[in-house]
Formats: sequence, C-alpha cells, structure tokens
Amino acid sequence: MASRPLVASPPDAFGAAVLAGLAQTPKVVPARYFYDNAGSELFEQITELPEYYPTRTEIGLLGVHAGEIATRVGAGRIVVEFGSGSSVKTPLLLRAVAPAAYVPIDISADFLTESAGTLAADFPGLSVLPLAGDFTRPLRLPAQVAGQPMLGFFPGSTLGNAAPASAVDLLRAFAATLGDDTWLVIGLDLRKDRHVLEAAYDDKAGVTAAFNMNLLARINRELGGTVDASAFRHRARWNGDAGRVEMHLEAQRDLAFEVLGQRFTMTQGETIHTENSYKWTFDEARLLARAGGWTPIAGWIDPAGLFGLHLWRVAPAAGEP
Ligand code: SAH
Ligand code: AVI
Repeated sequence: MASRPLVASPPDAFGAAVLAGLAQTPKVVPARYFYDNAGSELFEQITELPEYYPTRTEIGLLGVHAGEIATRVGAGRIVVEFGSGSSVKTPLLLRAVAPAAYVPIDISADFLTESAGTLAADFPGLSVLPLAGDFTRPLRLPAQVAGQPMLGFFPGSTLGNAAPASAVDLLRAFAATLGDDTWLVIGLDLRKDRHVLEAAYDDKAGVTAAFNMNLLARINRELGGTVDASAFRHRARWNGDAGRVEMHLEAQRDLAFEVLGQRFTMTQGETIHTENSYKWTFDEARLLARAGGWTPIAGWIDPAGLFGLHLWRVAPAAGEP
C-alpha cells in the first residue's frame, strides 16, 4: 500500500522563484513550476501526442531491456524514482527488479498521491513511500529505506530540463542521496533533426501550448497574478548552439501585470523563458554520467535512433595508473 506522502518543499518557493525570474532580463520561470495538478494532467496528454515520441519510445526500450537491467543490478533493491509523474513506466522496471520498496519523488504533490495510490493497488505487498518535493533541493529518503541498496530511476529525459552544469550537480546530489551501492536507470532524449524536435514541442493539437500557458494560470491563481494570458502565445524553437529546445511565452503586445503585489511590464515580442529541453548524443550522455559521479555500464537506443536508455553505477573509487 502507499503511505501518505512525506512533504519536503517550502510552501513559498513558487512565489519566490516567479518574483526573482520576472525581475531578470530575459524573464524566466523554472520549468519545475509547470507541474501543478493541471500541468501534470496536461503533461500526460502530451505523452500521448503523435509528435511527442519520447514516452512511447522509452516504454519500448524498457520493455525490451528491463530483464537485462534486473540481471545486472540484482533483485531486492529500493527503487527511487525522480520526477515520477503518473509512474506509467515504473511497472516495467518493478516487475523485472522485484524491489524491496518503491519511493516515487515528485514536486506535483496531489498528482503524486494519486499516482502512488494507483501503483500500490497494482502491486499489493509492495511498500510504496511517496516523497513530495523538489529534487533540486537536498533530499532525505524515508527512514524505512535508509542505508539499503538503491536503484535510482530517472526516466522521461527530465534531466534534459537542467542546463549542463545543473545536470552535473543534480547527478552528484542523486549519487549522494542514494548511497555507495547504487545504480541508476536513466532515459535521455537524443539530438536529432530540428523539425522533429520542434514538432514535439509545438504539436498541432495545441496541448504543449496549453501546458506552457498553464503556468500563467497558475501564477494568477496561486500568486494573486493579474496576467492577461490572452496577450501571450506559445513559442518552441531549437537552439542549435546550446543544443536545446526552448519554450517561451511571448507577449503579443505591450502589457503590465502584478504578481504578489509587485508590478512587471513587458513589451511586444518579449518572452518569458519557461523551459529548456537539452538533447544529448549517446556519447555526450556517457560523459555527463562521468561528470556527475557515475560510471556508464550499459545503454540502448531504439531502432529509429530517437531515444537513449542508460544504466549507470556510482563510480567506485578506483586507482588509476
Ligand atoms: N517520469 C515521468 C514524468 C516526466 S515529466 C515520465 O517519464 O513520463 C517530469 C516529472 O518530473 C513531472 O511529474 C514533474 O512534476 C516532475 N518534476 C519536475 N521537476 C521536478 C523537481 N525539481 N523536483 C521533483 N519533481 C520534479
Ligand atoms: C519532462 N520533460 C522531460 C519534458 C520535455 O520533453 O522536456 C517536458 C515537456 N515540455 C514540453 N513537452 C514536454
């Protein structure tokens, strides 16, 4: 069964991040704040879109390779999932590795509670210990699993939402949280033709646009915002120099608004930068592993060359010649 989530996020973090980000030039809001309940629901719709290949491709890779992963890591570890969302991919891993417990971690607290409950119902006898919080902050795992051998799970290319230096810091923090005897299964989207990438982040049905625009609705709802969302449009573009898809909210006219009593102005064409989605080649991903304190052990790419699934292990402190 699923226990009630432990909560590890300061309640005013969203407001502080929005005030700081809107005061910058260019304006920015961290992508982790997409995920209120409505944002999490919209992300689930994104995963079903014909243009959004990552989810179905990674599910295919897990279906083929979960058995080999289990053979390599052994049974009975604690599975700790970072950014677990709906946990739809998790059963593929859980069935293969037969964990001692499952710790889903997500910033979207209500969505996490519901997903953890659904998963627990599908795995009677498995101890499901949800942790609601921001994994970019120091994390303490539930006391029941402390000190046990871990298997981290970080699917969905969520690491790609962090800039390279932050991604390295995050990987190091995960290694520290999970302990010395740890493996990590991580999915990372691959670099590819810009038209395929831009379509994945600007779908015809407008679901990704709604996901992006939901941030404005969240600001208005939770932070006393007075933003006229109809003055904005969704923009997604490949930035080849930086190796990332960027999402922005672009003002269609000059406007002014308030958030938590502070006044902000924007001019026509100015944007709020809401997300980066870095795309790494397979070899870059392996370098990222090493920079983040992990050793790449195995990795797989789907036949169409769209997405990479990797198995890493905490780097042992080995001597060098
Ligand atoms: N793992 C799922 C969901 C990916 S969407 C999949 O592969 O499909 C990214 C998930 O990470 C969302 O559920 C979001 O709420 C969560 N998330 C994003 N940033 C986070 C952060 N800093 N801390 C905790 N969870 C985060
Ligand atoms: C969660 N994350 C890896 C998704 C991505 O592809 O960057 C979020 C997303 N943004 C727009 N579409 C999906």
